[in-house]
Parts: sequence; structure tokens; C-alpha cells
Amino acid sequence: MENELKLASGAMVALGVATAALVVMPYVEVRDVKPAPQLKPYTSAEQRGRNVYVANGCVYCHTQQPRDRNLGPDADRGWGRASVPADYAYDKPHLLGSMRTGPDLLNIGARQPSRDWHLGHLYQPRAYVPGSIMPSYPYLFQVKDAAEAKQEGDQPITLPPGYGPMVGQVVVPTPEALDLVKYLQSLDRTYPVLPPEPKS
Ligand code: HEC
Repeated sequence: MENELKLASGAMVALGVATAALVVMPYVEVRDVKPAPQLKPYTSAEQRGRNVYVANGCVYCHTQQPRDRNLGPDADRGWGRASVPADYAYDKPHLLGSMRTGPDLLNIGARQPSRDWHLGHLYQPRAYVPGSIMPSYPYLFQVKDAAEAKQEGDQPITLPPGYGPMVGQVVVPTPEALDLVKYLQSLDRTYPVLPPEPKS
């Protein structure tokens, strides 16, 4: 009986220490963090685009957490300054990611602001980056008859020569593709980090 008691209390202590270190302390550390004024909440289109990002598993290949200079060459790669907790004030769920098959995207909106580039790259990454191993997302687009698209007032995307559909056809982005690109364009944490508030 004595041993069982020791086992149970040992387990409770281990659980208590783990909860304090992994839940309570991080919460206390970030609960008062204020977002910089330049960081805006996502618009509804950007939020929908964020859901498309989640649904398509972009997070499996892309992180959103540039590291400090001492930990890696992220800044030299043009991915931006090291991120701070306040940069994620509006991110729910966060999309930090842990795999970097592709580049970090926390500042892709600043690095690549072009809507046309993003749409074309999602339709066919290899049209823009030869040998890219990023999957293409053809189901975020519709291949239509050029005349029909014109009649319906669609705005087809422009693709580099050789990557477009057959003559007489055009590629039209779906609302999901347009929202996703709005989300990507919104990713910009290049503003300076706020100094910590003085402790009173
Ligand atoms: C299998 C891994 C993989 C997945 C999944 C993936 N990507 Fe990529 N992505 C890459 C690689 C590799 C590159 C670098 C080559 C290139 O630009 O095509 C890249 C590049 C990019 C770039 C350009 C980055 C830059 O710095 O120029 C953007 C934007 C991007 N991906 C967005 C997305 C989005 C949005 C999704 C989900 C719809 C996605 N990726 C899914 C691997 C992936």
C-alpha cells in the first residue's frame, strides 16, 4: 500500500511540475503582450484564406517563425527579423509550423506583394521556380472557355508562356484561391518590435 501511495503522489508531483512549466509559466509570460499598432486583425477574406491555408496543409512545408540571427541564417535569406509573441496576437490557431521544406512565410506579403505571382505560383509553382517541389493546386482554379469567361466577367490569371491551358481556354481563380492570396499578402511583420512595457 505504501508503494502505491508513493507512486500516486510522485505522479501528481510530476504532473504538477509539467503543468506549471508548460502551461502556467508560458501563459503568465505572454498574457499581457500587446500587438504592435501596425499589426491589423485579419479581414474576413484574409481569415477565409487562412482556413484554405490550413485545409491544404501548407503548414506541413512552411513555417511562420523566422529565427534569431544567433540560431540560423533566416534574416540573410530575407525571411525577416526574429518573430516575437506579439506578432501572433491575432493568430488562432497559430501556424508556426515545424517543417521547412519551403521557405518561412511570416513575411511573404512584404517579400512578394504581387497577387498575379501568387496566383500563378499556386496554379503551377514550376512556371515561376524551375524544379520547385511545391505541389500545384489546380483545384483552386477553373479552366474555362475564353469566350465563356469573358461573358461571365471572370478575371483569368496570366501565366508564363508555355504554362497556360490550350488555345482558347483561360485559367480563372476560385474564390478560395483569391482569399488564400489575400491572406498571403497580409503576412507582413516587418514593423519594429515594441519595447517591453516598463514594470511598475
Ligand atoms: C510539399 C511541400 C510544400 C507544400 C505542401 C506547400 N509548399 Fe509552398 N513551397 C514549397 C517549396 C519547396 C517552395 C520553394 C520553391 C518555390 O518557390 O516554388 C515553396 C514556395 C512557396 C512560396 C514562395 C516563397 C518565397 O519565399 O518565394 C509561397 C508563397 C508558398 N510556397 C505558398 C504555399 C501555400 C499557400 C501552400 C498551401 C496551399 C504551400 N505553399 C504548400 C513547398 C511546399
